[in-house]
Parts: sequence; structure tokens; C-alpha cells
Amino acid sequence: MTTRRGFLRGSALSAAGGLLGSLPLARAAAPLTRSFAPQRLLNGEALQTQDFNGAGSLRAHAEARRLLTGCAVIPGKLRDDPEYASLVAAQANIIVPENALKWEQLRPAVGLFNFTEADAVVAFAAAHGQRVRGHTLCWHNQLPRWFASTATPENARQLLTEHIQRVAGRYAGRMHSWDVVNEAVDSENGRSDGLRKTPWLALLGDDYIEYAFKTAHAADPQALLTYNDFDIELDTPEQARKRAKILQLVRKLKGRGTPIDALGIQSHLGTTEAPAGAGLRSFVRELRRLGLQVFITELDVNDRKADGLVPDRDQAVARVYAQYLGLMLAEPNVTAVLTWGITDRYTWVGNKDPRPDGTPPRPLPFGPDYRPAPAFFAVRDSFDARTLA
Ligand code: G3I
Repeated sequence: MTTRRGFLRGSALSAAGGLLGSLPLARAAAPLTRSFAPQRLLNGEALQTQDFNGAGSLRAHAEARRLLTGCAVIPGKLRDDPEYASLVAAQANIIVPENALKWEQLRPAVGLFNFTEADAVVAFAAAHGQRVRGHTLCWHNQLPRWFASTATPENARQLLTEHIQRVAGRYAGRMHSWDVVNEAVDSENGRSDGLRKTPWLALLGDDYIEYAFKTAHAADPQALLTYNDFDIELDTPEQARKRAKILQLVRKLKGRGTPIDALGIQSHLGTTEAPAGAGLRSFVRELRRLGLQVFITELDVNDRKADGLVPDRDQAVARVYAQYLGLMLAEPNVTAVLTWGITDRYTWVGNKDPRPDGTPPRPLPFGPDYRPAPAFFAVRDSFDARTLA
């Protein structure tokens, strides 16, 4: 078994001067038996807060490799839970509101916008020197209740235009990137273009994605415009088909001069699936050829099916983080790593599908007690192993 110290030495070598030129690819096949530092360091000393804050934080290690790292945040908790707020401030150089920029939350009634929570996230980021991602301008989920009874083929384009102009316009110049369109592909529904059958497609026709990107660019020319989707990480036939449809979409958008800068790969992973591999790697490389950056936008690792006690589950989760980030961070166009939450105290994982034994899930880099889990060290080591171009 590789020790943590041995692993760190390998990382230092690669950082020192590219002695191991092909290391990033070799790391993709990191042995699944490695273990990650738990609550005690190798010398037996208890982990101190300075070991994972300041120079020891994910933020500092990412910045040393010119990476963005951060998490989805909940504005109410940033306000009411000081420990959570400190953790987000210490660990992230980019944040994204988990729900506060969705239609449902921004638009409680026809003609009414409520920016209070989204503004709070943008203000928090400004106060802590962080960038912000916007999620999301056009999605078929979390639309307000009034949408279905109000939107028609006649007014839908105006509704979407007004939304993008008001929302992206409000934060223009302050957003690192926007998930302009979210989850618009469904490779299994028989349509040759692979577009998901959503209200937007039904109301606006198949050019709505291009239209959304062009409108977003006009509203905020500085933000990196992103298409974001899920279930495109693994080497299963379904996920390979979905990647192919997304590439088809991106090529079409690029061919028509649409301003698209990045692909968001959500990365909701689990402990029991076969790991991501060659399919994802060639997808990321093809996106690079097309001139796109890749952001890991919603990373977490569901341990619903992991056996054993908490320490075993935590190691299983950490191994998935290490394997996945080893693969992804070997690709130079992967420039941001965001987890969907930062502490297991607040996570969407398990909302719909709890663990059979009823215990809370542990999918994130920090435990419910705000102490770093083995996943934290896996993420940090992956940053350290990133070679600079
Ligand atoms: O805001 C209401 C609140 O008023 C109400 O009292 C409460 C009672 O259930 O519900 C609240 O809404 C919840 C909302 O999160 C805000 O907390 C919804 O029920 C709940 O379904 C919703 O879940 C969100 C989910 O998207 C909806 O699809 C999760 O928090 C959020 O993590 C999740 O995020 C998505 C990304 O946007 C896209 N990719 C997948 C990812 C995970 O599903």
C-alpha cells in the first residue's frame, strides 16, 4: 500500500520539474487500495486546524497550481452558521449558489424578482476574495409554479430574454462563469439531436440553447459561458452516448458562432460504480480541441452503497475522489473543481435515496463536524499532483 508520505513525495517530484513527464496519466490508474490521512497525521499527532486552513487549505493548494476550487453554498447557512461560513471562506476561491439563482427562488411570482439570497452570495464572495459561478439561467427543473400556466409559445422567448437580461445583467462583470443551459441533453429519447424534451424545447424550438447563450453573452460579455450536464463521467454505453450527443451539440453551437466557453461536468459519483476512464478522457480532450475549458461543477461521491463502518466508507469515498481527480486534472483544460456542498452536514445526497441503514451520507471533503474527511486529503493531493503548463 502506498503511504501518504510516499504519495506526497511523488507529487513533489512531479511538481519539481516534470521528472515524470507522463505522471498525470499514470496517476489515473492510482491503486484503489491506497488510504488517505484520517484525523491523525503520520507522526501520530492529532490534526490541528492549521493543518487544513491557510497554507494547508484546498484553496491555497489549488492556487499554487492555478486552479479554481470551491463549492455550492447555501446563503441562509452563510448567515446563520459561522463555522460553515468560515469553512467556505477558508477553502474556496470560487463559490456557486446551490439554489439561489434558480428561477424558482428568484421569481416567486409573475413579474417579480427577488435577488436577496443571490446578492448575499455575491457579497460573501466579494468579501472573501472569491469568484462566483452562476447556476443556472435555463433549466427545466425548479421553475416556479406560475411558469406552466403563464408561458406560451408566443411569450416564452420574451420570458427567457427578460430573465437572462435581468439576472446576468445584474451581476455583469462579477461572475466568473454562468451555467447558461443545464441538463438539456437526453440521449435516450429517440431524437436525433439528443435534446431533452423540456418546456423550453417545446415552447421555443431547437435553437433555444443557441439563443440563451447569445443573450447571456450580450448581458455579460465577461462571464465564461458554460453548458452543464450530468451522467457523462463513466464508461457505460448510456453515458458514452450522452457524451456523443453533447459533443454534437457543442460542435453545432461552435459552428454557428455561439459564444460557448466551457463544459460543466457535474460529477455526481458513487462508490460502487466502475471508475471513470478512457471515454471521459477523450471527451475532455475533444472539448479542448474545440477550444472549451472543462469545469468540474458539482462533485460529490454518494456512499449509499458503501459497506462497513464510517472509516471504511470514508476511505471508499476518498478513493473515488483521488481516482477521478487524478484522471481529470491530468488534462490542462480542466481548470475548476467545485464540490456540491462542502460539509456532509448540508448535502442534497440522500434526500431522495437514503442509505439503507439510515445513517447520514458522507459524500463531501468535510464531515458533519467540519473536520476534514479522507476525501479532503484526496482532493488536496490531486491538486498537488497537477503539473503546470
Ligand atoms: O425552498 C423550498 C422551501 O420553501 C420548502 O420549505 C422546502 C421543503 O421541502 O423545500 C425547499 O425547496 C427545496 C430546494 O432544494 C431548496 O432547498 C426543494 O424541495 C428541493 O427539491 C431542492 O433540491 C435541490 C435540487 O437541485 C432540485 O432539483 C437541491 O437542493 C440541489 O442540491 C439540487 O441541485 C442540482 C443542481 O441544481 C443540478 N444538478 C443536480 C443537482 C443535484 O440534484
